[in-house]
Amino acid sequence: MTLKEGKLPTVIKTIGNTPLVRLKRMNPFSLVTILLKLEFFNPSGSIKDRIVAHIVDDAQMKGLIKPGGVLIEATSGNTGAAAAMIAAIRGYKAVLTLPDKVSKEKQDALRAFGAELIICPTSAPPDSPEHYVNKAKAIKEKTPGSFRIDQYDNLKNPEAHYLTTGPEIWEQSRGEVDYLIASASTGGTISGTGRYLKEKNPNLKLIMPDPVGSIYAEYFKTGRIPKEGHCNYLVEGVGEDHLAKALDFSIIDEVIPFTDKEAFDTCRRLAKEEGILAGGSSGGNLKIALDIAKKLTRPKTLVVIIPDGGLKYLSKIYNDEWMKEKGLL
Ligand SMILES: Cc1ncc(COP(=O)(O)O)c(C=O)c1O
Repeated sequence: MTLKEGKLPTVIKTIGNTPLVRLKRMNPFSLVTILLKLEFFNPSGSIKDRIVAHIVDDAQMKGLIKPGGVLIEATSGNTGAAAAMIAAIRGYKAVLTLPDKVSKEKQDALRAFGAELIICPTSAPPDSPEHYVNKAKAIKEKTPGSFRIDQYDNLKNPEAHYLTTGPEIWEQSRGEVDYLIASASTGGTISGTGRYLKEKNPNLKLIMPDPVGSIYAEYFKTGRIPKEGHCNYLVEGVGEDHLAKALDFSIIDEVIPFTDKEAFDTCRRLAKEEGILAGGSSGGNLKIALDIAKKLTRPKTLVVIIPDGGLKYLSKIYNDEWMKEKGLL
């Protein structure tokens, strides 16, 4: 069969089956294996391709979206990139609402895919009509033929990880995984992947790093949403100022805070010492993984989610001027 006659996959078929690699020079703890799940290998550059493909396939099957329809979503950029990519392939329009702290690289990528962007103030409180999630809801109401992905409250989000990310990690680690470390925004990653892995290994510990300022650490400890909770820290895509139905706190063992500086310093080391260019949430996850590894006295394997890549943040984390301006260098 010639290449012309044979069937090559579309870009959507390349989602998932991302590599799991070993951390080497940054891991001085001989008892501990640290494995990184490199989600920037997905075609739009992040873990969010998995959930958007799953949600849109389901919506198409149920007739909730038809060719020419409009995909709407509130996003810190990665879900938006996945939605814009899939909209381009399937012939939809993508309308995306974003907080204004989202990097220029991420915003530019969404425009390149042909999406329409509505930029909202990061400081708008969750009950404000200007908050990016409320804005997406309002646009959905007035747009005929539209479908809102609704990643925060759509249980198809954790389901995508239960069906793909979890089984991949289990197989790639040959069932040797003692800790999963994944910070959360919607919580889809940690809830879906975590549920699958805990079913396989009930002793597995699910650790959720959380940026200082986010409501999650305090909510996990006390069941109370702190009034002063916000998303004004610099790391993008994780922590929240509101709760999400996709996040199942009942299976999480610990929520551990990290600072912007800790996350970004770890990212910069990861690039220089391991050759892995990752986003800020990856740095937060790895910083907490290294803290845990330091305290372990028995052989254990830690799997760390690397949700996206550093090319999305060249103007920030990897820019010395920006780091200095923010007092982080
Ligand atoms: C860079 C980055 N890291 C981590 C996450 C968290 O993933 P989840 O929404 O599945 O909790 C996101 C979500 O937007 C993200 O953009």
